[in-house]
Amino acid sequence: MQRSVNAGILGVGMAVPERVMTNADLEKIVDTTDEWIRTRTGIRERRISSPDETSSTLGAEASRRALAHARVPAEELDMIICATATGDYIWPATACLIQQAIGAKRATAYDITAACSGFVYGLATASAYIQSGQARRVLVVGAETLSKMVNWEDRATCVLFGDGAGAAVLGPCAPDEGVLSSATGSDGGGFEMIILPAGGTKIPITPEVLEQKLNRIFMRGSEVYKFAVKIMGDVCLDALCKANLTPADVSLFIPHQANTRIIEAAASRMGLPPEKVFINLDRYGNTSAASIPIGLTEAVTEGRVKRGDVLVFVGFGAGLTWGANVVRWSRD
Ligand SMILES: CC(C)(COP(=O)(O)OP(=O)(O)OC[C@H]1O[C@@H](n2cnc3c(N)ncnc32)[C@H](O)[C@@H]1OP(=O)(O)O)[C@@H](O)C(=O)NCCC(=O)NCCS
Repeated sequence: MQRSVNAGILGVGMAVPERVMTNADLEKIVDTTDEWIRTRTGIRERRISSPDETSSTLGAEASRRALAHARVPAEELDMIICATATGDYIWPATACLIQQAIGAKRATAYDITAACSGFVYGLATASAYIQSGQARRVLVVGAETLSKMVNWEDRATCVLFGDGAGAAVLGPCAPDEGVLSSATGSDGGGFEMIILPAGGTKIPITPEVLEQKLNRIFMRGSEVYKFAVKIMGDVCLDALCKANLTPADVSLFIPHQANTRIIEAAASRMGLPPEKVFINLDRYGNTSAASIPIGLTEAVTEGRVKRGDVLVFVGFGAGLTWGANVVRWSRD
């Protein structure tokens, strides 16, 4: 009889652009203040990609680091799942560009379009492939260059986002470790709340479209805020329940980094003390699908994660989409 397995995270890595843009820098571009940005969002600075840096180049670098951390050669990968809302092209998939860059010749590569929930969806998918025995080594990447898609004249959105990538290598582990559960959901009824309206088949690019900046991120911020505050807590509790755990079992909460106030509301809903909540959006802003793997990589590097710890990842974003994973850390 085949022994049941879970999918464990074997290694993690991240890559962010060198260029730092502070709130003071933004004060020179749009009508905003450091004080407004800090108090409303928690963000102090973010990283901005150079013209040569794309989601695939950052994603490939994060992937190389994750593979080195996992001690897994790229040739062993069966699958690459890239979560991105800012792919190099509409198609082909950014995952294929990463595959080529890292030399993962055997891997099936494709993208997930779930915006800021993309990494959580990717982890749920990778875990299902590994549990079913259809794949042994899966790379999940969250890679974004949102700075190339924001409207730099819209102060309500351009202050929020940043660029970066994070990656995780997954492989079989014992059934009581690794990804214990995932809970995901979507509501297409809210598709217009965060949207990149033009550039697809519905609104092709024309000079008028460019003039109106419809090829840039549009967001109804306060509606997204209300949705996020409710859904983050709900989906975490759902995922914990599926894993037969409670918030008291959580060692470290690594949420999507969109807004400190949203994170604090979710943490308080679960009764988590501040030391169990990972926050780095003060340094990176909202990096969409990259924020959770960047947070996880930093938490691991800082020694905040040890074998047996229960980690909760949660994301929400355009779609609308949301999801959470519960992971028992399986690395020494
Ligand atoms: C975007 C967000 C920080 C705005 O905070 P808010 O408290 O809801 O602020 P509002 O949108 O109600 O705007 C309040 C005022 O600040 C102004 N404002 C917006 N952006 C500003 C900025 N960068 N600097 C200064 N003032 C700003 C607005 O114009 C508005 O002014 P008004 O009252 O004169 O009309 C908040 O709604 C948010 O974080 N939403 C969730 C966004 C998110 O997570 N998106 C990503 C999903 S993955």
